[in-house]
Amino acid sequence: MVASGQTFSQPEYTENFYEAIGGHPTFVKLVDAFYEGVADDEILRPMYPEQDLRPAKERLLLFLEQYWGGPKTYGEQRGHPRLRMRHMPFRVGPQARDAWLRHMRHAVDRLDLAPLHEATLWDYLERAALSMVNAAD
Ligand code: HEM
Repeated sequence: MVASGQTFSQPEYTENFYEAIGGHPTFVKLVDAFYEGVADDEILRPMYPEQDLRPAKERLLLFLEQYWGGPKTYGEQRGHPRLRMRHMPFRVGPQARDAWLRHMRHAVDRLDLAPLHEATLWDYLERAALSMVNAAD
């Protein structure tokens, strides 16, 4: 318990994950690095309906920020994520999943996170990618 009259600065263990890993700049760095990989990927690049990848990049950024406790802009703009449903128009087979995860792995590595943060983020991304598969190759 906190003794009355004492004030404490926010200890690290009560921060949300979004803040703990550096907030907005960290998430921007993550999606920028990820989309650099997507832009040159022969499986993933043709899947994106828009010529310009920036709007898709922005949607992923906003989603991840909201998921980890940052601003809720994704929900305001896009509503409930329903990610599996939103991926149904795209054929996400094991090859696309592996390509997605490969670029995301490079992107996560560029963040130089503390090991526990890195493991937490990666575990989520890996499980999310597995759950998005909706087709065989
Ligand atoms: C497994 C491989 C995956 C593939 C091949 C894939 C591919 C795509 C494609 C082609 C789009 C449409 C681009 C657009 O927004 O216009 C999209 C949208 C999106 N993806 Fe994925 N994705 C994958 C996994 C994931 C995962 C694991 C997440 C989350 C952790 C994710 C989050 C999103 C989000 C937030 C959108 C935008 C949804 C919206 O608001 O419309 N994707 N994805």
